[in-house]
Amino acid sequence: MAALNIKVEEDKSLPQAKKVKIDKSYGLLDQRVKISGWIHRMRSNKKVVFIVLRDGTGYIQTVLSGDLALAQQTLDLTLESTVTLYGTIVSVPEGKSAPGGVELVVDYYEVVGLAPSGDEAITNKIAEGADPSLLLDQRHLALRGETLSAVMKVRASLLKAIRRVYIEEDITEVTPPCMVQTQVEGGSTLFKLDYYGEEAYLTQSSQLYLETCLPALGDVYCIQESFRAEKSHTRRHLSEYTHIEAELAFIDFNDLLQHIETLIVKSIQYVLEDPIAGPLVKQLNPGFVAPKGPFMRLEYKDAITWLQEHGIKNEEGNDFQFGDDIAEAAERKMTDTIGVPILLIRFPVEIKSFYMKRCSDDPRVTESVDVLMPTVGEITGGSMRIESTEELMAGFTREGIDSKAYYWFIDQRKYGTCPHGGYGLGTERILAWLCDRFTVRDCSLYPRFSGRCKP
Ligand code: 4AD
Repeated sequence: MAALNIKVEEDKSLPQAKKVKIDKSYGLLDQRVKISGWIHRMRSNKKVVFIVLRDGTGYIQTVLSGDLALAQQTLDLTLESTVTLYGTIVSVPEGKSAPGGVELVVDYYEVVGLAPSGDEAITNKIAEGADPSLLLDQRHLALRGETLSAVMKVRASLLKAIRRVYIEEDITEVTPPCMVQTQVEGGSTLFKLDYYGEEAYLTQSSQLYLETCLPALGDVYCIQESFRAEKSHTRRHLSEYTHIEAELAFIDFNDLLQHIETLIVKSIQYVLEDPIAGPLVKQLNPGFVAPKGPFMRLEYKDAITWLQEHGIKNEEGNDFQFGDDIAEAAERKMTDTIGVPILLIRFPVEIKSFYMKRCSDDPRVTESVDVLMPTVGEITGGSMRIESTEELMAGFTREGIDSKAYYWFIDQRKYGTCPHGGYGLGTERILAWLCDRFTVRDCSLYPRFSGRCKP
């Protein structure tokens, strides 16, 4: 039936087409529009070709019939080719469903760029069920898929929601440097670099810089990449991740915990209310229950008792003891069993960072918190900070850190110290929980982890 001589030509007597993006076309019933995008799906019977077009704002079902369906140009179309379709928006027939409840009845179209067929066809590049590392090599193409692109849309909405909460709370955004000469969370995960002959690192956390902003700007936050040379492959560790961090002045530990709860509860609420991201979360994670404050508060010492009572062992295979780090597997078992968001608080000094303030009623432990979520475990780490220079110096000594490079951070205590605290949230970890992804790798645009720095 293919007719090489059938030309795809525009009937100039038709009304002029209005150029629109797909999401805006759903409301333009009976109007002639012009939509550009990528061919996401395509099928045909003898007389009609159905194309699902994608442009990043949504999907639209389109129909080509008559000469348009028979033309060789149409038979040559391939998935991922780009086209500009002209036609009229109509409601889908009763009983049928389609994105936006509409269909585009095409009367003319132009090919912008034809994608390859055969061995080079997109379906061979990102075949379903392919080895994850092959899919990661083709990340630039895999991102076009419905699931990954949905997670990225939710990610954009989450970052917008987080900023909205910070604006509501009158917290100022700053952009600290990523190239630094100080560590925050331990030397073993530092990425070193040669900085014009001096040793420097990619930042592990912007916390120390945020602390210096308090006297200048008041409460501050940043949304910045952090870098960790994590050696082990786990489902929740990346070498580069988007770190949401804030620092608040003249607060106490309880204020800090309440603030963290508010940020999480409100930002998730805003994502769920978002007309684009809300339905995507439902699609990705149908069972998701929005968290409500106040969260359960669990002291580290009581968590140790809980782990002992539930027969969960530490990394050496022994019963947990006070002072043990609660590593990923045990933490997740506990969180999944309890099944609700947990603020795990008051960790021992020895297993936490040099800057954390001790509890006044028990100097063995710190005013520290990890937020644990079912299915992923820790999504946030925070604490009150040491206020006195002497105590801070003792922290450096305990951790074997040369304090010279930290003079500017120490000055913070010298020139007008104040009670203050802050926290960091891992964007990819919140998303793994919100979108029900097995690994944080699915929540990063181009994930970096040991052995992977491309594309
Ligand atoms: O608990 P962390 O190491 O805390 C800090 O960096 C503090 N200095 C933050 C602060 O108080 N301003 O990291 C905070 C959060 C973790 O709870 C986790 O969500 C995320 O950052 N995170 C990672 N996410 C992905 N890959 C990694 N390798 C991560 N390491 C930490």
